[in-house]
Amino acid sequence: MKRMLLIGLGWAMIAMAQPGDPLRYTKSGNLVLPADYREWIFLSSGIGMAYTSDASSANPPFENVFVNPSAYRAFLKTGSWPDKTVLVLELRASESQVSINKNGRVQTTGSVGEIHVKDASRGEWAFYRFAKGAPEGTLIPKTENCYSCHEQNGAVDTTFVQFYPTLIDVAKSKGTFKKTGE
Ligand code: HEC
Repeated sequence: MKRMLLIGLGWAMIAMAQPGDPLRYTKSGNLVLPADYREWIFLSSGIGMAYTSDASSANPPFENVFVNPSAYRAFLKTGSWPDKTVLVLELRASESQVSINKNGRVQTTGSVGEIHVKDASRGEWAFYRFAKGAPEGTLIPKTENCYSCHEQNGAVDTTFVQFYPTLIDVAKSKGTFKKTGE
């Protein structure tokens, strides 16, 4: 009886690690695009964000950020990201004059640009870049400025929680919020 229970438990664990698992890699070490990321928690949307004062565009893209639900729930409790956190940055074109809209901007076509993952088994945080519509993304080398800007300016553990309105007060109350960019 005990053995049956153990076997059952083993199967349940295998089943749990299957589709809902946000972190899957290919044999060559690429990150598999999480197919259901649009059902995850929406953190924020920036439009035409630029980090130099001379950058501007008539058609600034939207940047939508999503996080896997279990990491979000853990953040609400602790103010920090657990292992296996996956943050998706989706880029979408912005347009005006669509349908009845005469002013302001709406989101149109786009795809995932980059994903930021925390994975202790692969040396903590890493960025993966996705070519337009690609089902898997390649690891961005540590020498690229993604890592230094996020480390220096991200309010919580290399992530830009200062731009994710539902998490700012959580991080502040848990004492994990680092003031940057002032
Ligand atoms: C000069 C600073 C800077 C650089 C360089 C930079 N980022 Fe970011 N990144 C940001 C900011 C600010 C946000 C918040 C965006 C928002 O709120 O829409 C962000 C958000 C993100 C996110 C969403 C999750 C998170 O970590 O908060 C990802 C993924 C990301 N960037 C990937 C990259 C990649 C990949 C590169 C390098 C190719 C890069 N970034 C370079 C400033 C930077």
